[in-house]
Amino acid sequence: LDQLPTNQAGHLEIGGVDSLDLVKQYHTPLVVYDVKAIRDQIHHFQKVFNDNGVDYAVSYASKAFACIAMFQLVNQENAHIDVVSGGELYTAIKAGFPMDHVSFHGNDKSVEELEMAVDHQIGVIILDNFHEIELLKQILAAKDAHMNVMLRVTPGISAHTHEYDQTGQVDSKFGFDLQSGQARKALDLVLADDRMNMLGIHCHIGSQIFEVKGFEMAATKLIDTLGQWHKEVGYVAKVVNVGGGFGIRYTEEDDPIAPEMFVDAIVKAIKKRVSDLSLPMPAIWIEPGRSIAGPAGYNLYTVGSRKDVPGIRSYVTVDGGMGDNIRPALYQAKYEAVLASNPKAPIKETVRIAGKYCESGDILIQKQALPATKPGDVLAMLSTGAYGYAMASNYNRNPRPAVVFVENGHSQLAIKRETFEDLISLDQTFSLGD
Ligand code: LLP
Repeated sequence: LDQLPTNQAGHLEIGGVDSLDLVKQYHTPLVVYDVKAIRDQIHHFQKVFNDNGVDYAVSYASKAFACIAMFQLVNQENAHIDVVSGGELYTAIKAGFPMDHVSFHGNDKSVEELEMAVDHQIGVIILDNFHEIELLKQILAAKDAHMNVMLRVTPGISAHTHEYDQTGQVDSKFGFDLQSGQARKALDLVLADDRMNMLGIHCHIGSQIFEVKGFEMAATKLIDTLGQWHKEVGYVAKVVNVGGGFGIRYTEEDDPIAPEMFVDAIVKAIKKRVSDLSLPMPAIWIEPGRSIAGPAGYNLYTVGSRKDVPGIRSYVTVDGGMGDNIRPALYQAKYEAVLASNPKAPIKETVRIAGKYCESGDILIQKQALPATKPGDVLAMLSTGAYGYAMASNYNRNPRPAVVFVENGHSQLAIKRETFEDLISLDQTFSLGD
C-alpha cells in the first residue's frame, strides 16, 4: 500500500495518469490496466529463463483477461497465449495475433473449435481426453492437415489452495491420468497418427498457489514420465509445459514470493531431473494468467450510499460489484481498496464495501479500513486485473464497465462501456400464444 504512486495533488496515479482524471473521462465503474506492469511481469519471467539458459515460451493464459488490445500488448512483448474457447481464439485472430504462438486448452473442445484451430494452423492443441484425440484425428484426416499436440496429464499433486482452483489432483476433470496408464495409452495413439506431431507434455496444478514445492514435484513428475516414455518407446519431448498458477498478493495478509521465483525453482528442478536421467533438455513453457494481469488491474468505483447498522457496522456501497468482480462472492476472495483522492489519508473507520447488485452476497470487501468516505468519493480496488472483467456478467442487467489501458501518462480505451442498447441487442420481441 505504501508503494502506491500518488501525484502532487495526493491522488492515486496509475501509469502516470491521475485516477480521478480517468474517472472524469471514462466514468465508473471502470477497469484500469497499468500497461507497464504487464510488460514488466512478462520481462521478469523471460529474464529467469534467459538467466538459466533454457529455451522457453511465456504463454499468457488469456482466461485471466482477454481482449484485442491485451493480445496485441502481449504479442509486442513476444509472449504467446493460451486460449480455451473459440471466442478467445476468435479474439486472437481479430487482434492479428501470430497463430503459431497460440495453444488451445480445454476439456470439452467442440468439433467447430478444433476445426477452427486446424484451419488457422495454431501452434499447438493440448489434448485433454481420448474422445478429443479421436475427433482431432478425424478432422486432420478430413482436411489433410497436420497439427502439433501436447498431452495434458494430471500429476496427482494437490496444491493446497481454494478447492475450486485445484486442477492437478487425480480426481480432476482435466487431462490424462498418469498412475493408471491412461497417459501412456494416449501417447501411443498420438504417435500412431502421422498427422499429429507430439510436441510434449503439459500439466497445470492449480491457481493462486503460494508453495514452490507443489510446482517442483509436478515438474519432476513430468520429467520422470518423459524418462519412462523415452525408455519404453524412444519418445523425446521438445516441450515441457508446467502451466500457470503463481500466486499474487491481494492483501497485506498475502506474502508470496515474486511470480518469477516460482519459475526459477521449476526450471532448476527440471534441469536437475533431466540431467539425472540423461535426457535431452526440452524447452520449458509456462502459462501465467493471474500473475501477469492481476496486479496490473484496478477497479474504480464511485461511492453511492452508505448504511450504518447501529452497533454492528457500516456498509459503504459502490456503483459496481459482483457483476464486474464475482471473485469475492464466488471464492471468498479478499481485496484491498483505497480512497483514490488520497490513498495515504489517515484511517478513520472500518467498513464493509458492498456492491449495487440485488443480492446480500454482493460484498466486495468484508472489512476495509478507510478514511471517512462520503457519496461521490472514488474507491480504487487493487489487483483486480485477473478473473475480474473476464468473469463479468450482466446480472441485474447492469452493463459491463469500460476497460482502459494507461501508460506513460496516457490512457486509451481497450473495451467500451456497455450501453443499455447493447444489453437488449440480442433480445427478440415476444410472439407465442394460441
Ligand atoms: N493454464 C491452465 C491450463 C489453466 O487452467 C490456468 C487457469 C492457467 C494456465 C492460468 O493460471 P493462473 O496463472 O492464472 O493461476 N477463476 C479463478 C481462476 C481459475 C484458473 C483456471 N485455470 C479465480 O478467479 O481465482
